[in-house]
Amino acid sequence: MEVKKIFLPESELPRQWYNILADMPTPMEPPLHPGTGKPVGPEDLAPIFPMNLIEQEVSPKRFIDIPEEVLKIYTIWRPTPMYRAYNLEKFLKTPAKIYFKNEGVSPAGSHKPNTSVPQAYYNKVAGTKRITTETGAGQWGSALAMACAFFGLECKVYMVKISYNQKPYRRIMMETWGANCVASPSTETKAGQSILAQNPDSPGSLGIAISEAVESAVTGKDSKYSLGSVLNHVMLHQTVNGLECQKQMAIAGDYPDVIIGCCGGGSNFAGCAFPFVRDKINGKKIDIIAVEPLSCPTMTRGPFAYDFGDTVMMTPLLPMHTLGHSFVPAPIHAGGLRYHGMAPTVSQLILDGLIRAEAVPQLETFQAGITFARTEGFISAPETDHAIAMVIREAIKAREEGKQKVILFNWSGHGLVDMAAYDAYLKGKLFDHALPEEEIHRALNDIEKLPKPKQYKPGKI
Ligand SMILES: Cc1ncc(COP(=O)(O)O)c(C=O)c1O
Repeated sequence: MEVKKIFLPESELPRQWYNILADMPTPMEPPLHPGTGKPVGPEDLAPIFPMNLIEQEVSPKRFIDIPEEVLKIYTIWRPTPMYRAYNLEKFLKTPAKIYFKNEGVSPAGSHKPNTSVPQAYYNKVAGTKRITTETGAGQWGSALAMACAFFGLECKVYMVKISYNQKPYRRIMMETWGANCVASPSTETKAGQSILAQNPDSPGSLGIAISEAVESAVTGKDSKYSLGSVLNHVMLHQTVNGLECQKQMAIAGDYPDVIIGCCGGGSNFAGCAFPFVRDKINGKKIDIIAVEPLSCPTMTRGPFAYDFGDTVMMTPLLPMHTLGHSFVPAPIHAGGLRYHGMAPTVSQLILDGLIRAEAVPQLETFQAGITFARTEGFISAPETDHAIAMVIREAIKAREEGKQKVILFNWSGHGLVDMAAYDAYLKGKLFDHALPEEEIHRALNDIEKLPKPKQYKPGKI
């Protein structure tokens, strides 16, 4: 019988995370202080993050030990299974072998607990009592709510308003795990109030919600802020997944020619891909594809520039692909991909030619999600459907070229709390959003006056 799933025993759970900073061919440019424009030091970040996570953020060490307490919690769902998508292959009549890593088996339903658990752990060790954060679709907020419950921490979540209204079950999950969740922009913070004063009907964005969560952390007692993507330490924690993938591919007797992941801030993609990027740096030939929505084309069209991580310009300036911090993406259902920026590590690796980026329209992603559900059974998160759409494109290309490629993709989460989005698609109520050219021009104008990185690269706008 064909082997469908590749399991690893708990004894094979990686004991260390992999830090891509140790192997980046081009050194990263530093984050800059939002006030002075000078490189930020650890003390600048201390009001927002605990020092142990700041140390990880800048660590040059190639491998970093995963604490025992974190490993214990990881074993609730890790190692996660890898699947061979035989039915999808058959349906597409492709000679390609398609593997996917199921990160949807975590209690929160996505890859996000891979970093929420260590972040809550390091905060607990550092004496933090309360953690604030933003969330798009609610996947990150629910993952952090769960992690805070494990470590007895208070959790406050600012959830992008459009998703808060579209996805009430995620809010209820957060509340079940003991967190407090409000729609962003909210009236609770100065940042939220200022956005509402300009636009009372603002659907919100991740950038706005980050501003609120950061403000709430710096003004709250014993509070710190936690980010679910973008930063180096988040990418680091996610690599537990890619390290498992390497072991599972070896058991399958295959090695990926193509690796695909969807990208919001870059974390699930990086987690799966970075250990393989290391192989590529060391000579392997792999096509590594980061997929984003056509309506939020950060990597494919945004410049590589310094920009704020949030909307009201409180965070350090990061060197990254960006559409401008004031860019408000169209209200697509993949809420977790509606972010103006991209992880600096992912951005730098694109510049270095080690990763390539592609953008796909919303309807193609839902069609791909439906095809996947009807062949492989699993109903994917709308974010994950972006990866599946690209897998289907690549599998069809392999058929046309007559090549037996091995494709690995990260199935970043299930969509069982996103059924309203599928309902809208099935009823023909979803559409592709036009490229918001004017909105991008306007938002990019706002970053013109900011310092430019040495490797500044204009976008394709
Ligand atoms: C299931 C899922 N996949 C992907 C993403 C995108 O985030 P990232 O690029 O950090 O993995 C999200 C974000 O919320 C998500 O929930």
